[in-house]
Amino acid sequence: MKILMVGDVTDPSGVQYLKERLWEERKRLGIDFVAVNAENASFIGGADQILAETLLEAGADVLTGGNHTMQRLSIHSFLENDSRMLRPLNYPAAVPGRGYTVLDAQGYRVLVLNAMGVVHMEPTLDNPFYAIDRVLDREEGHYDFAILDFHAEAAGEKGAIAHYFDGRIQIIAGTHTHVPTADLQILPKGTGFVTDLGMCGPTGGVLGINADVIIERSMLHLPKKYEAAEGPVSVDGVIFTLDPSAKRVTAIERIKF
Ligand SMILES: [Fe+2]
Repeated sequence: MKILMVGDVTDPSGVQYLKERLWEERKRLGIDFVAVNAENASFIGGADQILAETLLEAGADVLTGGNHTMQRLSIHSFLENDSRMLRPLNYPAAVPGRGYTVLDAQGYRVLVLNAMGVVHMEPTLDNPFYAIDRVLDREEGHYDFAILDFHAEAAGEKGAIAHYFDGRIQIIAGTHTHVPTADLQILPKGTGFVTDLGMCGPTGGVLGINADVIIERSMLHLPKKYEAAEGPVSVDGVIFTLDPSAKRVTAIERIKF
């Protein structure tokens, strides 16, 4: 079974690009299940319902989120009503939406989890180690394998999560930094892990944002409005080949299209 995870969609041009290309790539590569991080689909402002539905129609089976997911009030009812879009599970329980879901992947029940780091992020969220542990306990027996999008800034926190859940969550991919890392690895108990998937958006600036804006903000510390980068759009993703009966990842490869 092949599972594709796609890094943060940075703006609507990334959504449009996936709309044009994702089904074609799915078919060409024989992908069974696709997870896309959609937290910035509206450009540093969460994702609205139209963009979320476009991504789901474009070939994503599930949309994961992060620190920007709750930013648009208009998405809250969609998060409540559609279990294919997640927000981090370590938010308070009263926050709309859900942080995990069980979906079908070629007849297997896949538990998809989305959690957020607390190092250089939101220190008052629930500790992700305990929060994820609680979900795995609660859902035990109700799924065949598990996938986690861990949305975090610090590489060390991502690595610690991956090693702690090795063998219990079969696929763990980091998101948020927009930088595709080269550390694809299969951990001792069979978990496939990468520190960061990368991004899906315009490649000409800094992490999807116009470079001049970032330079000005960095040098003058004034609230210059963000603008999207220019340049060709591309998609960073990682394909995990999983043996669902052995609950082990057998191969990992990067793709860019
Ligand atoms: Fe983020």
